[in-house]
Amino acid sequence: MAGKTKLSLIAIRIASIYAAFGCLWILLSDKILLLLVQDADRVNRLQTYKGWFYVFVTALLVYGLIKKHLRSQQLSHRRYQRLLNNIADPIYLADSQGNIIDVNNSACEKLGYTREEILGLELNDIDADANLHEWSDFINTVNNDHSFSLESHHKRKDGSIFPIEISAYIFDEDQNRYCLGVARDITMRKRTQELLVQSEKMSSLGELAAGIAHEINNPLSAIMGASQNIYNRIYADTDKNIATAAENSISLNDMRSYLNKREVNRMLNSISDSGLRASKIVHNVLSFSHKAVKQLCICEINELLNETIELISNDYNLNKEFDFKQIKITREFGKDIPQICCLANEIQQVFLNVLKNATEAMSEKNYEKGTAPELILRISSKESKVTLEIEDNGPGMTEEIQNKIFDPFYTSKEVGKGTGLGLSISYFIITDLHHGQMSVTSVPEVGTLFTITLPSRVEEKCS
Ligand SMILES: Nc1ncnc2c1ncn2[C@@H]1O[C@H](COP(=O)(O)OP(=O)(O)OP(=O)(O)O)[C@@H](O)[C@H]1O
Ligand SMILES: [Mg+2]
Repeated sequence: MAGKTKLSLIAIRIASIYAAFGCLWILLSDKILLLLVQDADRVNRLQTYKGWFYVFVTALLVYGLIKKHLRSQQLSHRRYQRLLNNIADPIYLADSQGNIIDVNNSACEKLGYTREEILGLELNDIDADANLHEWSDFINTVNNDHSFSLESHHKRKDGSIFPIEISAYIFDEDQNRYCLGVARDITMRKRTQELLVQSEKMSSLGELAAGIAHEINNPLSAIMGASQNIYNRIYADTDKNIATAAENSISLNDMRSYLNKREVNRMLNSISDSGLRASKIVHNVLSFSHKAVKQLCICEINELLNETIELISNDYNLNKEFDFKQIKITREFGKDIPQICCLANEIQQVFLNVLKNATEAMSEKNYEKGTAPELILRISSKESKVTLEIEDNGPGMTEEIQNKIFDPFYTSKEVGKGTGLGLSISYFIITDLHHGQMSVTSVPEVGTLFTITLPSRVEEKCS
């Protein structure tokens, strides 16, 4: 509306100047001519030139005025373009059929198209959630000057998708309807939200689990202790055992033979194995608890990682059919990595869990000829944060599994093989105990990448 009024004012101004000049010319030109020239013949001849002169001067005047206004319009258009192109968020202008008719530079950069390419596209080419029919229905039913905002997903030229939040405005111009939208990339916001939810979940679950584990610990110790005692009273040749057997007129060997034949020894072993397994779970769950006394120390993350690898290679019997030493390990450690202030044992526990998972996953993949299990370990630092990446070329995971792996007790392993606590404890150690971040990205059949970010050492906090 304001633009329309401004254009009318410019037109009225040009017309008024033209009219004023014309009137003055009609009123004054003859009088001035008669004052300057007295000869009637010459006045007649000059009348013809006067007309030409009038046309020439007014043409010049109109040209000057129009040029001045066009120039000011061009300048304001350039200013507006510069403004749009320097906004970091992508801006799109679409018509009611969903054709993209204008964009700023950021839109081209974010989606990986040139301006010419993007202007030939429709909304559903760049928005993974858009439906052109619904779009037309929507834009044609809402009122002029309607504003709205929504979350959606944008699609880059290479096919990758990222979440966005759009603030849009619908308006009419020249009897057509348009939508102007500003799209903000909310990938980081979404990730932070997910991390917060996960961390909240882990905190409350940790407290609850630690409470239950504490309660289970006592009866479990009684079961383990009693089964050990039963074993000792049957199979140890102690004086007391021999004397009590004699008192009851039975031989220890006959009794052992009977119990072995009735598989009581196997049952005792099974009680003891199951008890050990349960106490391992209790021990793991208790490490969620805030109450345990833990010692902070200043460490080099690469040393902690190398020590863990050493530990796995020499002592850790990860998988009988798979030797950790068969894995090719590539280290890409950056220079001048700052130290971190951490609970060294807990951080090593995290590395151990992630490396153990990677090894177990890779042992289940059939590698094609020319390929072999490989771990790539990267350490880098940026803005007072140290980042460790552990990448394997194992079987990878679907998105559905990736969403569950940090949940306590989620395991894809057979019953009795995995507790499903390794990653949830690791997540808790990194996010809750160290205020860091832990995330995963994985592509089925290609591999998995775990990223762990820890704050670098802050002296006063570590003392
Ligand atoms: N590098 C990986 N590649 C493929 N799948 C993985 C990888 N790391 C973890 N997983 C999946 O995540 C699940 C959960 O792992 P987590 O360490 O929490 O438990 P677990 O390994 O099953 O049990 P535990 O750690 O007690 O042995 C695994 O069962 C597996 O399906
Ligand atoms: Mg594990």
